[in-house]
Amino acid sequence: MSTDPKELPGADPHTGNRDIDPVTGYDTTGHDWGGIKELNTPFPRIALIALVLTVIYSVITWFLLPAWPMGRDYTRGLLGLDQQEMAKDHLRELAALRETWLGRFETPDFDALSDDPALMAAAMPAAERLYQDNCSACHGRAGGGGPGYPVLTDTHWLWGGAPEDIATTLQVGINADHPDTRWAQMPAFDWMEPDEISALSTYVAAMPSGRADPDSEAATLFVENCAACHGEDGAGGMMNGAPSLVDGAVIYGQESETVMTTLRNGRQGVMPAWTERLSDAEINVLSLYVARQMEDSGGDTATGAMQ
Ligand code: HEC
Ligand code: HEC
Repeated sequence: MSTDPKELPGADPHTGNRDIDPVTGYDTTGHDWGGIKELNTPFPRIALIALVLTVIYSVITWFLLPAWPMGRDYTRGLLGLDQQEMAKDHLRELAALRETWLGRFETPDFDALSDDPALMAAAMPAAERLYQDNCSACHGRAGGGGPGYPVLTDTHWLWGGAPEDIATTLQVGINADHPDTRWAQMPAFDWMEPDEISALSTYVAAMPSGRADPDSEAATLFVENCAACHGEDGAGGMMNGAPSLVDGAVIYGQESETVMTTLRNGRQGVMPAWTERLSDAEINVLSLYVARQMEDSGGDTATGAMQ
């Protein structure tokens, strides 16, 4: 019979330690901290296998995928998978796709363009983004305008609502720094007597409802001072940027208070020229978009369709 303690029943085969923990039945390391003993449990086999597998996996991936930095470059890996290149390829594909349809907009043949449903389906969502990025800050997300900024979804146009007119407006701007810009100058009438300004303002405020008295002194003042630009009946439409004063569409407002301010100070709204910020094709696709929004909303301001 052997006396080697390692071979005794319950003994640790390596240490021969027979100090068994009564609760778990495990062998202990034999260390004793004031009665607290440490169990001598082996490292779990499954964790060991997992560790070995991850090491093998990482060694394989070092060879297959881009892994090691080498100064300015890095190892490419045997699979040649480069996500940077993949992302660039994807962008190049998108740009090529965009060029194929955007290229068509370089020629402003708006009838032919809008007669192509597939082209419109590709172009209009992009035009919507161009609008939101460049125009919505002034004209509103839905094209509904605001004080000083005209509505783009109604049928009242200062410079025309056909795509080619809108394209010109975008190219040269209004009161902008473009050499051929559209000029729209409402002069100040601060030289008028205050009671004349007051009477004229009341008169102009009553024009849209048709209640302005044509036999009043204010009516004479209007014909003498305003008709040259706004038209004898105030209907505008003279392509000089002077809006109609008899329709409901206003830029600044047509209550007598606002008209008084307009008369005292004059007005000169500025719409930037876009040729330096947008390409011709982008201007054309936007013009078609704005013109179509007006058609889609049936010319009704309240239901402007730009979203
Ligand atoms: C900085 C503000 C601003 C931005 C941005 C802007 N606009 Fe304008 N836009 C104006 C103003 C102001 C007017 C009116 C000018 C005036 O008072 O005569 C105007 C007028 C127009 C007109 C003429 C309307 C008519 O009745 O003939 C069109 C069309 C137009 N804008 C389209 C656009 C489009 C499309 C964009 C985006 C590319 C855009 N605008 C961006 C301020 C802006
Ligand atoms: C030289 C041409 C010119 C003359 C003269 C002129 N206007 Fe104007 N008026 C304009 C232009 C252009 C605008 C638009 C200004 C802008 O868009 O910033 C305008 C705008 C207005 C507006 C603002 C309309 C709106 O939609 O908010 C009122 C009101 C107005 N004019 C009234 C008058 C009255 C009243 C007179 C006569 C005392 C007069 N105008 C004389 C060119 C003129």
